[in-house]
Amino acid sequence: MKMGYSSSVALLALLMSIVVLCNGGKTSTYVRNLIEKPVDMPLDSDAFAIPPGYNAPQQVHITQGDLVGQAMIISWVTVDEPGSNEVIYWSDSSLLNFTAEGQVFTCTFYNYTPGFIHHTTITNLEFNTKYYYEVGIGNTTRQFWFITPPEVGLDVPYTFGIIGYYL
Ligand SMILES: *[C@@H]1O[C@H](CO)[C@@H](O)[C@H](O)[C@H]1NC(C)=O
Ligand SMILES: *[C@@H]1O[C@H](CO)[C@@H](O)[C@H](O)[C@H]1NC(C)=O
Repeated sequence: MKMGYSSSVALLALLMSIVVLCNGGKTSTYVRNLIEKPVDMPLDSDAFAIPPGYNAPQQVHITQGDLVGQAMIISWVTVDEPGSNEVIYWSDSSLLNFTAEGQVFTCTFYNYTPGFIHHTTITNLEFNTKYYYEVGIGNTTRQFWFITPPEVGLDVPYTFGIIGYYL
């Protein structure tokens, strides 16, 4: 098919408008600078210190436990014995404490055994709410807190951090 100049221009304009219409846009202005040096967490940070007390929970961290932010997976490691899988949690407005029970497992990575790894999921959380939680029940307890994200919506900003390490 041979196209005249005006029909090519019209076709090009159509294609361009499709491209414009299909462009989802950018959701963030952040562009990673390739030569930017990552900020290393200092090795003497509190986060790496072995907590005092018998069987005290170590490496305590949270992972979002559902798609919207109303569940959280609490993970920690104990080294002396398996200990309890229980998490006690509450918010500023709760009159009672809640408890959730999880699981413990061990694994071996070559000749390295990281201890007893616990994962407990807590559910039915309110959005945008500060929760306190306690682990190490029955031995040495440690308390931490987190804030749940706001309910998913059109204009709800969502900021999260990523942490990793090189091997
Ligand atoms: C909830 O648990 C925390 C930590 O164990 C405790 O300090 C607090 O008194 C408890 N609150 C209630 C209402 O039992
Ligand atoms: C540690 O906690 C577990 C679970 O609550 C309990 O069975 C065990 O007796 C505790 N150990 C000590 C030494 O308190």
